[in-house]
Amino acid sequence: MLEKDVTIPEQATSSREPLLRVEGLVKHFPIRRGLLGRQTAAVKAVDGIDFEVYPGETLGVVGESGCGKSTMGRLITRLIEPTGGKVEFEGRDITHLSMGKMRPMRRDVQMIFQDPYSSLNPRHTIGTIVSAPFRLQGVEPEGGLKNHVQELLQLVGLSPEHYNRYPHEFSGGQRQRIGIARALALRPKLVVADEPVSALDVSIQAQVVNLLDDLQDELGLTYVIIAHDLSVIRHVSDRIAVMYLGKIVELTDRKSLYSAPMHPYTKALMSAVPVPDPRRRGLKSERILLKGDVPSPISPPSGCRFHTRCWKATEVCKTQEPPLIALKTGHQVACHHPENAPDQVPGQQVLAAAREAVELITPAKPESPAEEPSEAPAGDGAALIEGDAATPSEPAEESPKE
Ligand SMILES: Nc1ncnc2c1ncn2[C@@H]1O[C@H](COP(=O)(O)OP(=O)(O)OP(=O)(O)O)[C@@H](O)[C@H]1O
Ligand code: SF4
Ligand SMILES: [Mg+2]
Repeated sequence: MLEKDVTIPEQATSSREPLLRVEGLVKHFPIRRGLLGRQTAAVKAVDGIDFEVYPGETLGVVGESGCGKSTMGRLITRLIEPTGGKVEFEGRDITHLSMGKMRPMRRDVQMIFQDPYSSLNPRHTIGTIVSAPFRLQGVEPEGGLKNHVQELLQLVGLSPEHYNRYPHEFSGGQRQRIGIARALALRPKLVVADEPVSALDVSIQAQVVNLLDDLQDELGLTYVIIAHDLSVIRHVSDRIAVMYLGKIVELTDRKSLYSAPMHPYTKALMSAVPVPDPRRRGLKSERILLKGDVPSPISPPSGCRFHTRCWKATEVCKTQEPPLIALKTGHQVACHHPENAPDQVPGQQVLAAAREAVELITPAKPESPAEEPSEAPAGDGAALIEGDAATPSEPAEESPKE
């Protein structure tokens, strides 16, 4: 699958107002016990994140299972109420808008869900499903609702004849196209897609990813795309936010992230990505296996949350949380001892436990000589994550255009 060739981060971040601005966003899910349902603890699903999304760009959000990606997506689309922080859309504070006041905003902010099977009502026809947003908003499109919905079906690569059919008559990929048609019905400005292809057969993933790309060009959409699959993220994103245990640990443009990641966790994730360029397939780099389990978001580690699994951790990492700051232009990192940049707290001794945190896996000799990569694969080391890891699977490279 070829990478998206539109890269806008520098100019996007400097010269335009963001479409979406998130400040200190927090979501703690209370854990209640006992007859009185007293709160005894909280799942810190999203624990203070800041980012901006610029018109026309795609922000990819990546991280291991349970790091808070979906919660973040549901917060910015206002499907759930934040515990703290602020969400601004087009300069307007929408953090605590009531349901009624949010209704007009729903036209502008839409969500595409992961599971194309459960997100479509099996008792409704495709026509009813895709026309629902018009009915909910009381909008009568020019030329009539049916015509408009049939045009939408065509736009997402389905046939107008599908209008009277039911979801069970469609494959997973087709159902996701129906979900996309529904999300785009009212021409939203921002689309948040939560794992839009992970429930699909690998052979279909590239088709849906490329459809999203085409629709973005055609309709001038802005995307936040959430995925645990780094190949998908690499393909779709202009900029990428890497999340770990409810925090953003690195945020930059795609090229910088893949060629010179600065956060040790990102470096670990990147190392497990399959090399997309067929000429480089024989080139295998060393990998780092992160050995520790992902800590619980109920009581995340002190200081830097990654310190229990980081091979560079020092005393300061245990006690002081590193802020997410720009260490290079357009490249934000939360780390005391970043890669590819001057150490923020030099002279610190690496903790004894940190030396045990990873295992280097050195590959056998390359299968065949390969050319030098144009984008180096994730620094000099590379990592695999045990357990619920971000599993790198590469969508098929077939043409999306049916
Ligand atoms: N409604 C809820 N009540 C309690 N805890 C929740 C709720 N929703 C999510 N969580 C918890 O919040 C944390 C973050 O969950 P979230 O679904 O946002 O992660 P994710 O990054 O999307 O994971 P995945 O890649 O598996 O989809 C997890 O520990 C999850 O169990
Ligand atoms: S702050 Fe310390 S523990 Fe955290 S990622 Fe950086 S080096 Fe590792
Ligand atoms: Mg999720």
